[in-house]
Amino acid sequence: MKIMILYIAAVFSFASLQANAKQSADSVIISTESPGGWMIRTNASVYQIILTKEGRVQQAYFGPKAQLAFHQKKINAADEIPVRGAFPTKTPLLEVVFADNVRDAELTFVNAEVLQIEGRQTLKITQKDKYYPLEIASFIRVLPEFDILEKWVAVKNTGKKNNIKIENLQSASISLPPDRYDLTHMAGAWGHEFQLRNTTLTEGVKTLQARDFKSFDNPNWFMVRPADETADVSGAAWFGTLQYSGNWRIDFDKAFNGRLQITGGINFWDTDWTLKPGTAFETPRFIVGYTRSGSEGAAQNLTAYIRKMVLPAPWRDKPKPVLYNSWYATTFNVNEEQQLALAEIAKEIGVELFVIDDGWFKGRNDDHAALGDWTVDRKKFPNGLQPMIKKINDMGMDFGIWVEPEMVNPNSDLYRAHPDWVFHFPNRTRHEGRHQLMLNLGREDVYRYLLKSLSTLLSENNIKFIKWDHNRTLSEPGWPDAPVNEQREVRIRYIANLYRLIDTLRTRFPDVQFEDCSSGGGRIDLGMLSRMDQAWTSDNTDPVDRLFIQYGYLSAFPANTMVSWVTHEDWHALKPGLDYKFDVAMSGVLGIGYDITKWTEEEKKLAKTKIAKYKDIRNLVQFGTLHRLISPFENNRSALQYIAGDQSSAVIFCYNMAEYLNGSTTQSQKAGILKLRGLDPGAFYNIPELNNVVYRGDFLMNVGIAWPVKGAYKSMILQIQKTKQ
Ligand code: DGJ
Repeated sequence: MKIMILYIAAVFSFASLQANAKQSADSVIISTESPGGWMIRTNASVYQIILTKEGRVQQAYFGPKAQLAFHQKKINAADEIPVRGAFPTKTPLLEVVFADNVRDAELTFVNAEVLQIEGRQTLKITQKDKYYPLEIASFIRVLPEFDILEKWVAVKNTGKKNNIKIENLQSASISLPPDRYDLTHMAGAWGHEFQLRNTTLTEGVKTLQARDFKSFDNPNWFMVRPADETADVSGAAWFGTLQYSGNWRIDFDKAFNGRLQITGGINFWDTDWTLKPGTAFETPRFIVGYTRSGSEGAAQNLTAYIRKMVLPAPWRDKPKPVLYNSWYATTFNVNEEQQLALAEIAKEIGVELFVIDDGWFKGRNDDHAALGDWTVDRKKFPNGLQPMIKKINDMGMDFGIWVEPEMVNPNSDLYRAHPDWVFHFPNRTRHEGRHQLMLNLGREDVYRYLLKSLSTLLSENNIKFIKWDHNRTLSEPGWPDAPVNEQREVRIRYIANLYRLIDTLRTRFPDVQFEDCSSGGGRIDLGMLSRMDQAWTSDNTDPVDRLFIQYGYLSAFPANTMVSWVTHEDWHALKPGLDYKFDVAMSGVLGIGYDITKWTEEEKKLAKTKIAKYKDIRNLVQFGTLHRLISPFENNRSALQYIAGDQSSAVIFCYNMAEYLNGSTTQSQKAGILKLRGLDPGAFYNIPELNNVVYRGDFLMNVGIAWPVKGAYKSMILQIQKTKQ
């Protein structure tokens, strides 16, 4: 999100419209005459905007290309920018109050142009209020190969005298054709993130939202499908997410006539923004896509888009290293000797990046103290960190470190010096979460303190990886020192400065890789993933729970961001084997979290073999196309297939959970069939793990092979390779 200060818009006449919209054969945005407006094309979809004679900008259609002609004849248009004003029949994108307390807005078309933004055609349509000095530009940036549109708006106070109060400003509104729709979204809690849920959208509004800066219970992602189109690999699906890490909301407003309006953006609950004369406010981007390839197409399009367009460029195309993280082994009780002992074994088994977690900084012996004081604990590391880092580097591994910059413990030097730097209200309890308070990063002094502390840490030590944690939710978001009309802006200012802080650190330290963490998966979204190279998916490392968490995660986010560790955790006392734990963790970015100094020679040998195998298949896992073959949400087993872009090879992860599910039938107890997807139908594939048997691609996809895994909590990784017959 950018808060734009300067914004210059030339106001063209209606007649200039056609001239402005540059068109060529490969244009994805074309202007139309009958009806007047624009047609935005992706590979599978069309988004149509019309301009009425009265100067209203309306969305006429968003869906498959094939149905466009039909819909053109039966236009049932909705405003591109639904406002609070006139009849309140839609969920508003814009709600403002003008200086004379008028709360209704009335928009009219000003001009339109096709711009290049970050190398992509973008339609910008400017409208203005008919009377008051308010201008709103809506942007649609087109990513045709992913069937994705990025939509956002920027509002400007074009007046010279009065403020305009924004009470609500969403990023985008889309309107789907009349139908019966089912919504798939995610639910969850700490330790159980990314659980997929389905619900029918009946008339009324269903809201997904965050109000406390956490998205455990509700990661900001959705998929909507016509109720009678349920196949995984075919049929219509609209999907989307918001590129934002603060409070957000997505509303699904279903009308009696069957239309569905989806609106998403910053959650303006207890939030507003004062638009001073001459200033502008730009929203984060709302990502929305359409596919004819079912839930699988939705996941593939969105994850490919994130992998290729959103993730920070430096690490986007590099394989992520196998990491060791000492948290589960040593918690807060860290010291040089013990970390080096872990590092020796990590190196021996093939780890490439050694990460020290919490506990390394001054006075941090448990979670009651020290957050905020980002200097090394000399009692634990009398020589500082650098000598230890040097030894780890000499072993051939990079070194990484844990931080939680946005937080402070009341028992810390920082809080003692600056008790006013945390979110708080006078006369109200400062509620603690994990014994910590949240710094008000909206403040410039807090921003500068964190930038300085982290820059010092990174420049004095050869740190190549930061795990950025965020362990509590927001409470009492007060900022008593701020001017009264800015006090409810604090959440938006916080996130703007959080992004600025990470962006500045990345510019200063371009070699450092960043991992997003929030007590596990509490803040994973495209705002963070455009700044963080990977994400700690969950504090729950139990492999069975992870099958669900990871399957859900992979509906929205790419595998090369999904960090998964092998640890001693066994939440259900099922005693899953080390082999199984590795197989689960190897379907993402592999990490190890055991106390590996306690491993037997046999365990080390197994780990070494597994890590070597992971390095062998890593490119497929991290850069291949994922087909989620069997869902753990519907079966007593699960399977994931990653295939190379040229269809020459694939890796298939097959997991058994319970032998039989509660209530299973004779039918469901029969050995299953494993059908692969996305292969070259006429090519032959060799499967070394199954006695080098060779099958044709079409056989593997349409007939399939017998489910290869036997026994509860057992697994198998199959690699297949194109071969001559
Ligand atoms: C929560 C994280 O999710 C864990 O992995 C670990 O880093 C702890 N915080 C450390 O306090």
